Amino acid sequence: NPGDAKQSTETPSRSLKARDEAFVRAPINALPGQPKLKRRQQEIGIANQKAGTSYTIDFEIGTPAQKVTLILDTGSPDLWVNPTCETSGQPEYCETFPRFDYNKSTTIVDLKVADVLSYGKGNVTIEYVTDTVTIGSAVIKKQILGIGFGSHDIPMGILGLSTSVNPIAESYPYVLDSMATQGLINSRAFSLDLRSVDNPDGAIIFGGVDTGKFIGKLEKLPILDPTETPSGSDRYWVTLAGVGITYPNGSSEVGSDTLTVPVFLDSGGTLSRLPTRVFNWIGESIPGAKFDTASGFYYVDCALAGQEGSVDFLFGSKTIKVAWADFIWEIQGQCLVGVLPEDEEPVFGDSFLRAAYVVYDQDNRNLHLAQAANCGSTIVAIKSGKDSVPSSAGQCKTTDPPSAPTPSATVSGSPSEVTGGGGLPGPAGTGTGTAAVPTVGPTGTGTGGGTG
Ligand SMILES: *[C@@H]1O[C@H](CO)[C@@H](O)[C@H](O)[C@H]1NC(C)=O
Repeated sequence: NPGDAKQSTETPSRSLKARDEAFVRAPINALPGQPKLKRRQQEIGIANQKAGTSYTIDFEIGTPAQKVTLILDTGSPDLWVNPTCETSGQPEYCETFPRFDYNKSTTIVDLKVADVLSYGKGNVTIEYVTDTVTIGSAVIKKQILGIGFGSHDIPMGILGLSTSVNPIAESYPYVLDSMATQGLINSRAFSLDLRSVDNPDGAIIFGGVDTGKFIGKLEKLPILDPTETPSGSDRYWVTLAGVGITYPNGSSEVGSDTLTVPVFLDSGGTLSRLPTRVFNWIGESIPGAKFDTASGFYYVDCALAGQEGSVDFLFGSKTIKVAWADFIWEIQGQCLVGVLPEDEEPVFGDSFLRAAYVVYDQDNRNLHLAQAANCGSTIVAIKSGKDSVPSSAGQCKTTDPPSAPTPSATVSGSPSEVTGGGGLPGPAGTGTGTAAVPTVGPTGTGTGGGTG
């Protein structure tokens, strides 16, 4: 409910410079979805068996404001609305979400530029417009967004929160850019606190950090330059420095290979897809896990999901522990480890992100990570400039509830997760489809509807 969003500027009329407290908090909803889990090459037996989750946010667009529900995606930069439900693969689900009637907005301006955005799975043909975008009491004027005129395999619009993923394309002001330039936040940074289906009070805080949602200090990690990543894309890539396992009896083991591999964080993805040797090590280290060549997953005894163990990931000097319950999924009485091998675009999806509190700082090109927990709420604004993300430690203790008290066997993430390297969304590859407004003329596709 966007009405719950609040912009905590005590005196909104103060000048931009004086508004150090500027941040915008908006709830994230965990919506049940219909994931179609399949492998890259072949569908596997677990397809369509499980209800899943999409992390979504409600925005309002236009004048008067119209509510839209958007998938929150840290793997792509663009904002667009109005998927084509008939070709979404999930027409009935798609139709439950409100659509933006652009004929009813008095503030919309048609930029008369079309584009095609391609994701790990699915694509959309859009026409760019500008219009007012409202998040609670925060109002962004003249935001560039896409109106979908034909999409495949995507059941709702997308709010992209990455930088321009294609380093050679010119970018335009995305939502986070506009919030900063219009003084709603001090710097282009946001914090993401995903929750499980049963605990749907996750939040995104634009321009702020909630110290009631994590344990210890945030670990600052540089976002890797595209040239340092396997696919050359500019996403939220950081260096994974090690992997380990903690067993229910408290003992732990660390992967023997010294490991420094780039991985990126993608809230639009369900699964974690990790470098083959990390995947193998995790599989071999979970007691009794057996590799199944047909599906490509490791299978385990379901009793493990209820035990206290964790898979541990090292970043800098910080270890993020992901509970077995979040990594082991039950599918028709069988349990598998929810990780697949991926060497080109290894990605941490929702199962990892629920265990981590993450601050994404685009201005300084850093991510800040800590173990997620829940012990109240104290929001601190992120100022501008270098080292603007507050270094204050989280207020939670290790005994506080984890971020994701996962019911056993919840497959979570985007309904369209799957075939591509990054799952949904996340533009496919680096050369296609994601060129920004100024560089792309009308393509002749999808412009027929017009917006004016
Ligand atoms: C979009 O996806 C559909 C379905 O996979 C495909 O047939 C179509 O060619 C794609 N369109 C573009 C422009 O990539």
